[in-house]
Amino acid sequence: MILYYSSRSPLSSLVTLTTCAQFSPNKTPCGKVGKVTPPSDHSRVDPDVSNRSSSESLAPGLSCSCGRRVFVKAAATSLLPIYPANASDSPSNYTAMLKKIHPPRPDWYEEFYASVLDTSMKSYEDEIAGYKSELFANLRGKARKVLEIGIGTGPNLRYYAVDDVVQVFGVDPNSKMEKYATAAAVEAGLPVPNFKFIQAVGEALPLADASVDAIVGTLVLCSVKDVDLTLKEVKRVLKPGGLYLFVEHVAAKEGTTLRFIQSILDPLQQTLADGCHLTRETGKHISDAGFSNLKFSMAFLSSASLINPHIYGIACK
Ligand SMILES: C[S@@+](CC[C@H](N)C(=O)[O-])C[C@H]1O[C@@H](n2cnc3c(N)ncnc32)[C@H](O)[C@@H]1O
Repeated sequence: MILYYSSRSPLSSLVTLTTCAQFSPNKTPCGKVGKVTPPSDHSRVDPDVSNRSSSESLAPGLSCSCGRRVFVKAAATSLLPIYPANASDSPSNYTAMLKKIHPPRPDWYEEFYASVLDTSMKSYEDEIAGYKSELFANLRGKARKVLEIGIGTGPNLRYYAVDDVVQVFGVDPNSKMEKYATAAAVEAGLPVPNFKFIQAVGEALPLADASVDAIVGTLVLCSVKDVDLTLKEVKRVLKPGGLYLFVEHVAAKEGTTLRFIQSILDPLQQTLADGCHLTRETGKHISDAGFSNLKFSMAFLSSASLINPHIYGIACK
């Protein structure tokens, strides 16, 4: 059954997005000239704080002529786990949220789910490859630091590897995904230090405010517990003008047979597929999240059977 099939060249409707994605260090991805606003709270740990010079780690105004305050602050920021009490990216907060949002499943279940995901998605990945190639091309040479939420076994890592300066953070609550994602990174040719897996949830991302150039999520908003909170976190962690790329399956159109079948099977799907919902109106959540230059299209993928239609697109913070 074909509900929303785009027979045009994959992502052809996203051509207008090129202006959205054009940026250089002095330009935001959305094409607005301007400097990137620093994180609102400088004491939060930036993902690459260890790579930065001490002066870069400091809030403006904290330097003094003798340099002692500079040194103390730099040492504290770089070496000690100092976080404001309410920072969702502090280890205690994001691990607490991990436990609350995604309580640990039995080991065998997590391993089983990870290995099934690793082996069962091949035909889907083949079919969606053209769409993803065009979508990820928006990042090429432009996004140095990328966060992927719900990275799973890492099927998207091959799309980043063409650009060897990219640093990828993969977040997923299922720790069993790490070995698959790491193997995918190696196979894709991504230098080992350029990929870091972090066990966490999308609802409490373990990265500082305004710290990444792009965030990617594929087939993940169906699985998170709180879609709106996850999108809020995406906006918090993205730099101003940063890009959000997504491919998500969504509920079929109301009143169709497919939608009826989806609503019957939804509870079973959630149990078997680690919380994946078949009937989420994810496009509406993304539209309401307050991104600018949001563009998305719909496609029906034959390899995904009942898990259709898909929306794919890009937005700017
Ligand atoms: C269907 S898989 C998709 C994996 C991968 N993105 C892909 O395209 O193949 C959904 C992934 O979301 C992860 N997940 C579940 N709940 C999550 C949450 N609250 N935050 C982030 N990821 C979550 C699962 O562990 C799983 O890896």
